[in-house]
Amino acid sequence: MKLDRLIARHEAMGRQSAHLAIASGRVRVEGTVVTDSHHPIDRFTCVALDGAVIQQPERALYLMMHKPEGILSATKDATHPTVIDLIDDQDKHTLHIAGRLDRSTSGLVLLTNDGRWSKRLMAAEHKVPKVYLVETLEPIALDAVAAFARGFYFHTEDITTLPAELVILGERQARLTLHEGRYHQVKRMFHRVNNRVTRLHRESIGSLALPADLKAGGWRGLDAAAAWAILAL
Ligand code: URA
Repeated sequence: MKLDRLIARHEAMGRQSAHLAIASGRVRVEGTVVTDSHHPIDRFTCVALDGAVIQQPERALYLMMHKPEGILSATKDATHPTVIDLIDDQDKHTLHIAGRLDRSTSGLVLLTNDGRWSKRLMAAEHKVPKVYLVETLEPIALDAVAAFARGFYFHTEDITTLPAELVILGERQARLTLHEGRYHQVKRMFHRVNNRVTRLHRESIGSLALPADLKAGGWRGLDAAAAWAILAL
């Protein structure tokens, strides 16, 4: 939203008076006078007019969690415990998940109430890398590396997966980097090379790696600067 819109709405001041109020230095954004009517603001911005706060900022939340296996990446569920159940914060009901994991998958999950951030994280065009540690039922064939790099055609979505980097770590273990997040993507890709995923763990998203001391079931808040820095790869 632009600053003039919020000011105009305040006491039904109207757009013209809002422009005047802003231009004459009566408006502060986060404590600093702003004279540009088009200054962008959102619900997390503190805005004051003539020294009185007219928009109290909402608390922006950015959380990382080490999701254990067996916990659902959902905000509510009638049967299974969800990632929200593991969080102890008064505003946890405002959170949504920025990129789900299957119930059987463990690892890094990000949660927020800032839709701009989650949208950027998940936007196809930003290709934020996600790194997974994979264990398989069968030995991983060497030619799977080239197949993952070429991509697989997914009939249901009518897309070809983006080039993915597969690094074979052991007979049945690999590290996989994806630049998108499609439904059951890792499992479906391994299925295409006649294999089956037996264990899946997300190690990182963008520049954020799951900290070694964050135990399964644990979570930690990120400040806004750290959260946005995840996207700067
Ligand atoms: N791909 C999958 O198949 N499952 C996940 O949980 C994440 C990526």
